[in-house]
Amino acid sequence: MIHRHALGRLPAKPHTAFYEDGKLLMEHAHTREGFDGPFSLLYYRTPPTDESAVEGLTIPGFCPFEPLADQPLHRRHLKTPDLALTGDFLEARRTLLFNSDLHIGMVKPSATSPRFLANGDGDEMYFVYRGAGRFETLFGVLPFREHDYVHIPRATPYRIHFEGDPPEFMVFEGRGFIDIPKEYRNRSGQITMYAPFTHRDFRVPESLLLYDQSCHGMAPFPLAVKREDRLSVHLHEHFPYELVGWDGFAYPFAFNIHDYQPKTGLVHLPPTIHTNFAGNEFVICSFVPRKVDYAKGAIPCPYGHASVHMDEILFYVEGNFTSRKGIDTGSISLHPAGIPHGPHPGTYQASIGTERTSELAVMCDCYKPLRLTTAARQIEQQDYHLTWVEREGK
Ligand SMILES: [Fe+2]
Repeated sequence: MIHRHALGRLPAKPHTAFYEDGKLLMEHAHTREGFDGPFSLLYYRTPPTDESAVEGLTIPGFCPFEPLADQPLHRRHLKTPDLALTGDFLEARRTLLFNSDLHIGMVKPSATSPRFLANGDGDEMYFVYRGAGRFETLFGVLPFREHDYVHIPRATPYRIHFEGDPPEFMVFEGRGFIDIPKEYRNRSGQITMYAPFTHRDFRVPESLLLYDQSCHGMAPFPLAVKREDRLSVHLHEHFPYELVGWDGFAYPFAFNIHDYQPKTGLVHLPPTIHTNFAGNEFVICSFVPRKVDYAKGAIPCPYGHASVHMDEILFYVEGNFTSRKGIDTGSISLHPAGIPHGPHPGTYQASIGTERTSELAVMCDCYKPLRLTTAARQIEQQDYHLTWVEREGK
């Protein structure tokens, strides 16, 4: 949903007869918000409706996940490196935090498999914590590399393929939508010169997906569909993702966080200056290595704050995390609305005079309170909220 894109062959006009080798092709309209939102038109060799069976599928911790029953209000620290998972990108997925607008989880696959997923609950934004490979999607092949964001629009069939070291992902599921903020577009839909990225920074599928028996197996071809946090597996008699062509605005894209162009000021700017994507009642922000505030006497470390309407999570990717002690790469901190938070003791003073930060982190601010799941509880540092206390001799 960055600009119009097209792949393969198309008829001159939508909704008109279109043939391949004398066979009438099936046009398929992939529409959002009924028929009012962005859409794409796809041309199938085999209609995607030839399912021969439907089965249930349960992946505990993902579909369904288990909310933590009792969650006292305090700051949280989740250590995702402690999350030991195996299996393909479905089996190795866990939801850690959620509200009615947003689910946040981790995906740590140890293997690839032929099955596809279509998430009917929302748009997904993957962040590639480690690894490389490709997303194979209905709209074509989208390679990924370390520190990419990969956006998968709601109900897009896709699978994750990798060779070599297994990748690791953080994943946001936006129940309404995930897109670039509308403030970054002009009235023609073009990304403005004030935005922290340009059209050229977004990568889109460059080739259609072709059936390959070694990757995709034999019929029946399984598609897992997620709806209301339940999975159903639809078995197709024909490989349904080899298209003749498509065009439109709904399709996956990738954006590498290192292409984000950060803004800094004379004195510290609020963290949402680093907004990268927006959803319904939440934003996703990118903190990348950058020069810091440059006025004489400026304090580059974030001020303590009570953002009284929003919960805040930070995913620490790499670099020197100046504001927090005990946080490491792969950590997720949750600082909920209702109580103040800020830098750990000592870090505020130590930041004065520094000229650069090497931190690489993904932040998400959301209006509705985030709840933990039992999977999150298993990787939680229990006393994190007490670590701001300065004791004598320490
Ligand atoms: Fe904060």
